Amino acid sequence: MSFVEIQKNGKTAVLTINRPEALNALNSQVLSDLKAALDELKKEADLRCLIITGAGPKSFVAGADIGEMSTMNPKKGEAFGIAGNKVMSQVASFPCPVIAAVNGYALGGGFELALACDLRLASEKARFAFPETGLGITPGFGGTQRLARLVGPALASELIFTGRTVKADEALAKGMVSQVCAPEELLDKAQELADTIAGRAPIAIRQAKKAIRGGLDLTLEKGLDYESECFGECFDSEDQKNAMKAFVEKQPFNDFQNR
Ligand code: CAA
Repeated sequence: MSFVEIQKNGKTAVLTINRPEALNALNSQVLSDLKAALDELKKEADLRCLIITGAGPKSFVAGADIGEMSTMNPKKGEAFGIAGNKVMSQVASFPCPVIAAVNGYALGGGFELALACDLRLASEKARFAFPETGLGITPGFGGTQRLARLVGPALASELIFTGRTVKADEALAKGMVSQVCAPEELLDKAQELADTIAGRAPIAIRQAKKAIRGGLDLTLEKGLDYESECFGECFDSEDQKNAMKAFVEKQPFNDFQNR
């Protein structure tokens, strides 16, 4: 039995973390199931957008598993952090866009999973926090790095040092999520966004993701060089030729073939 379920909807898929009895907390088994599911999905060349969500009405993911961590020594703690970070990096570098549909608690490792995604949609019930410093640890699945990059070091420091809970409306105002909706609409809204992305040129979307992600680690000058490289590679595709030909001929075009 896997703690991760996958539902394919044409060119998009929904990955659900399914451990609702523990509010979808990430233990080693969940991390390993998540890794295996992402490895499988990555092989699907025509997958154009992935949604990640949590099972049940209460929680996206309520963090890394505290019971499992409670007996770890420094060596095991570091290894657990490395394993978690590998999975988060797998999400961040997934070839097509990944949307987090945050349906409730996104705490600690759950907040970090949402941060590893490209886009975050939140239900009105979403709650984001880093409780770690109240448990005697730091965020360990990328939170210190990805939150600081997303909202800047001051707000990231405040949230990590205090453990303060951020509700959906504040998350929207501070740019942590791009949309907030009623809980019952969340998956439909995420699917709508995934379908919009899936309807556009997939090679261009992948190159754009590479440019955005890759550029974050570079100086502006090097980032611009990298953008030119990613931009140039798009001109190798049939989709670019057909879409531009249609524009020049004043014809509508949305039949992208991922070639
Ligand atoms: N680890 C393990 N089990 C967890 C869990 C977690 N992170 N979060 C919730 N659960 C379990 C609870 O132990 C409980 O199990 P039992 O029914 O067997 O007792 C079940 O999920 C339901 O939880 P509650 O009864 O506590 O539900 P609640 O509605 O009263 O409270 C909550 C919800 C506020 C989210 C509370 O469960 C909570 O505070 N959870 C811990 C959140 C947390 O601290 N997360 C950060 C973990 S550290 C981390 O993530 C490190 C990292 O960066 C890698």
